Amino acid sequence: MATDVRTIDDNGLGQGSDERFAEAAIAGAQSLIDDDPGQARWVTPLMRAVKRRRLRMPSLSPTVQRLVGLIESNEVDLDELAAAVNGDPVLATRIMGVANSSYFRGATQVPNVREALMRMGVREARTIVIVVALRTTVLRSPGLGSMAQTIWKHSLLTAAATQEIASELPPWEASGFLAGLLHDLGQLVVLAYASELPAWQEDGAGPSEAIVTAISEATHAPLGAMVLASWGFPDEFCRAVMRHHDPSGGAGAVRDLARALELGDRIAHQIEAGWPEDVADVPPGLVELADRLGLDADRLHDVAAEAAASFEALSKLA
Ligand SMILES: [Fe+2]
Ligand SMILES: [Fe+2]
Repeated sequence: MATDVRTIDDNGLGQGSDERFAEAAIAGAQSLIDDDPGQARWVTPLMRAVKRRRLRMPSLSPTVQRLVGLIESNEVDLDELAAAVNGDPVLATRIMGVANSSYFRGATQVPNVREALMRMGVREARTIVIVVALRTTVLRSPGLGSMAQTIWKHSLLTAAATQEIASELPPWEASGFLAGLLHDLGQLVVLAYASELPAWQEDGAGPSEAIVTAISEATHAPLGAMVLASWGFPDEFCRAVMRHHDPSGGAGAVRDLARALELGDRIAHQIEAGWPEDVADVPPGLVELADRLGLDADRLHDVAAEAAASFEALSKLA
């Protein structure tokens, strides 16, 4: 019987994968304690919560969950998308507001969501709907404080970059944006956990920022995969998110998307720090990562420019 379970696990189906993400998160947390046993106070409760599936994870409204499912599939039908958006009156109002904004320069006000999506165009509509829908989920996560905006901006920038990178990377042509937007979801889990820690300590003390950062670095990737699995995302997508700082541990399509995410994330960080004017000044490490995906330095430079531009456009909308 044990053999059967193992087989299912290796094929990455359902529960098996969730188990693997949890194990990876626990292993990451354990490595912190191995390095410094003094950290146990801050890390052990996390391991326990993951093991017992007691961790507070961001949740999606049924409407957004449906939207995410629609957008993740390659063919999006405008009527289906409109019907899903209409399931949430607040979201519907926002989408119409975006279509009526000066960004789309329409001569008349759109009368309904379907017309709003038509004005945006199907490709752009997908992106805009998911940005508007997920923004609330991210920004309203508990325990974020001033980090909320930072994480959201980084996610949006990574999404814009990963979209460009994955657009020529089958079967992920349509998944790059969403994957980039969600790649650091696990950070929200860690920050929510850290904000609850003082309440669990006898002396009410909380972890330092450095400790929270270390916990996040060690666990956010598998924790993000856990959240996505709980949201019903396809297994390979979740596994790619788990590998976004360690793509070589994956294989095939998982490794490809993980590499695209790793590069998208690094491009985002470089843009945040200031992207060099001259292509010759792009850091060699970035050029090397791009090269693995078949992008030369000039293409990398273009991808960064396009990502920065679509980030600017999207920031004005949401
Ligand atoms: Fe990350
Ligand atoms: Fe990131």
